[in-house]
Amino acid sequence: MTKRKVTKAIFPVAGMGTRFLPATKSIPKEIMTLVDRPLIQYAIDEARAAGIEEFIFVTSRGKGALEDYFDHAHELEANLERAGKTDLLNVLRATNMDSGAIAYVRQHKALGLGHAVWCASRLIADEPFAVLLPDDVIAAEKPCLQQMIEAYAETGGNMVAAMEVPYEKASSYGVLDVREDMGALVSVKGMVEKPKAGQAPSNLAVIGRYILSPEVLSNLDAKQQGAGGEIQLTDAIAQEIRTSNNVYGYRFRGQRFDCGSKAGFLQATVAFGLARPELRDEFDQFLGELSAMRKAAE
Ligand code: G1P
Repeated sequence: MTKRKVTKAIFPVAGMGTRFLPATKSIPKEIMTLVDRPLIQYAIDEARAAGIEEFIFVTSRGKGALEDYFDHAHELEANLERAGKTDLLNVLRATNMDSGAIAYVRQHKALGLGHAVWCASRLIADEPFAVLLPDDVIAAEKPCLQQMIEAYAETGGNMVAAMEVPYEKASSYGVLDVREDMGALVSVKGMVEKPKAGQAPSNLAVIGRYILSPEVLSNLDAKQQGAGGEIQLTDAIAQEIRTSNNVYGYRFRGQRFDCGSKAGFLQATVAFGLARPELRDEFDQFLGELSAMRKAAE
């Protein structure tokens, strides 16, 4: 059982973000802002809290703004320092990444999530690694990946974040076939990516946080197409059930928002806005008034 420390994480950010056109005509969707931070910042902060030290972005054409975002803004920092704006300076500095901690790999063709992850194989080499899908934003007291790292310290192997979804929504997800339900942790006997309606083995869906063994990358070498004609990460993980039988689902504590969809993005905006002490009262009052106005208009 592999239980090495997980210090590397892959962030697949090559997607075109067509659901957010026209905004994504000129900005990568990962730069879209939840309150005042780009989506990607939430994923980075979560990874850091879990002890990740190396951040690997799988990008594609048109993602330049994302790379710029991670540059240190020396001029801006100097201006804020001169002006004595320490609070803003601290906000800015908290986003700085160490030199050498970030790597970018290009995915030249949109062949699926499994392929995107495989593109980082050489940088991962022979270590367990995390994958975070920035579209899935998870509000939690203890960050989701940290919860998983703690559970992984007991299990080793491979672990995916999991959450119950309504059965009729299961076909939008990877879905777990549960062998043994141990509470937060479940051991998995099968995984199906985007099962057809009525064919999902359960309603326990995979959410975009993974801790994986390097064997999953070797499984992806075969570049086998799965659901939707894409190379699926789910299939490569499922293969590990057959060969090493050590795949777990982890029911995290927290609220997940699907920021890959407009409705989810809006819900996250409201939830994260209300969670900010400096915005809460005014925003809450506005939402109350809005809801009263809508009721009155009915
Ligand atoms: C991806 C994964 C899927 C997972 C989902 C979670 O799908 O392939 O297994 O359930 O993320 O957000 P996508 O949403 O990219 O189609």
